[in-house]
Amino acid sequence: MQNRFGLFIHWGLYAIPAVHEQVLARGDWNHDDYEALMHRFDPIRYDPEAWVRMARDCGMSYLCFTTKHHDGFCMWDTGQTDYNIMNTPYGKDVLKLLADACHKYGMKLSLYYSNPDWHHPNAYNALSTHQWKAKYPELTDMDAYIAFVKAQVTELLTNYGEIYTFFWDIPPHIEDKSINELVRALQPNILINNRGFDAGDFATPERSVPDGDRFPTMTEACQSVGENSWGYRAEEDYFSARHLMQSIDKIMAMGGSYLLNVGPMADGTIPTRSEQLLCRIGTWYNRTQIALENTAPAARTYSLSGGMPHIAVEKNGVTYFHFYRGLNSTAVTLLDDDIPKPCRAVLLNSGETLPIRHGTLPSKVDADTVARKQYYSIREIPVDEYPAEPLVIAVEWA
Ligand code: GLC
Repeated sequence: MQNRFGLFIHWGLYAIPAVHEQVLARGDWNHDDYEALMHRFDPIRYDPEAWVRMARDCGMSYLCFTTKHHDGFCMWDTGQTDYNIMNTPYGKDVLKLLADACHKYGMKLSLYYSNPDWHHPNAYNALSTHQWKAKYPELTDMDAYIAFVKAQVTELLTNYGEIYTFFWDIPPHIEDKSINELVRALQPNILINNRGFDAGDFATPERSVPDGDRFPTMTEACQSVGENSWGYRAEEDYFSARHLMQSIDKIMAMGGSYLLNVGPMADGTIPTRSEQLLCRIGTWYNRTQIALENTAPAARTYSLSGGMPHIAVEKNGVTYFHFYRGLNSTAVTLLDDDIPKPCRAVLLNSGETLPIRHGTLPSKVDADTVARKQYYSIREIPVDEYPAEPLVIAVEWA
């Protein structure tokens, strides 16, 4: 994927109880009381251009918005159900306002759409998960529901300009290629994730950092700023910037993209804590971006001193060493015999050029012979000044 860092936004009626985006199923809410929240949804401080500028300032180039979450409430002017944003006190198409802001700033827009739908009477799918407590199993009519989904997808992919990716959520375990064919017919350049009605284009590891050095397929990982919920939660437990930056660094070094989620509050603003965390991450991201986006795996492996995990990638003849868990020492020594000569090393976190020492070490060949082995050491890395950040070192070769 061309775009590597995106803002995920979970926003809907669930921002009012401020517990969890699935509070209807997970809490003890009565269905009708929950749906009545729509008569209170009035995000008077909603400023989509501020969201877009915040994402841009963090180095993000796309944004993925929940058009309809599992509760079935639609955040756009849909003609397929009255359970939508136009019938709230706010009464404006929040998706349209967001799309306009994205297009104005050149921010790509992606759309999230939940397959489970706890409002639509025909949507119950026994093959899948996250269904509404089998409320209407006797009314199950997948053909009717899929016709509704297609009509909504047509609206979403016709009325809001160019859409970058389509994020289906919760695999329905029903194979129907005609649905993604419709998506592609409406938006020929779109990328589709793997949680829909066929395999789609890209994988979606969620809240995890997979093992390995390289993803085998196109991948977009997603994670939220807090560990409890994707939607706004008043008592959220936030991740450390360190944890999130380590995850982002490893996933991007593996060739993946990263969607980092925030849940705006019911008034339309992003919680201060979330924004501060994003800013902190953005500061690191903007400095190391060159090593995170559109690189190739290094053509060779490197044996390095210190034993800290690393992934090497390259671009335009420069090798970028990602020490996604930082370093334990102020030096990294290139230990291979056949190493090319490094002529410049820069710590991207600070922009400073690091000294390189060339030396030789005694190396035993056999009982009678000791040869001298060459080494290069990149030194004086200010590790204690960056205790929270993954360290990224750019190396140019002579
Ligand atoms: C899970 C959750 C859902 C959330 C999604 C984001 O599927 O069930 O609430 O929207 O993750 O990827």
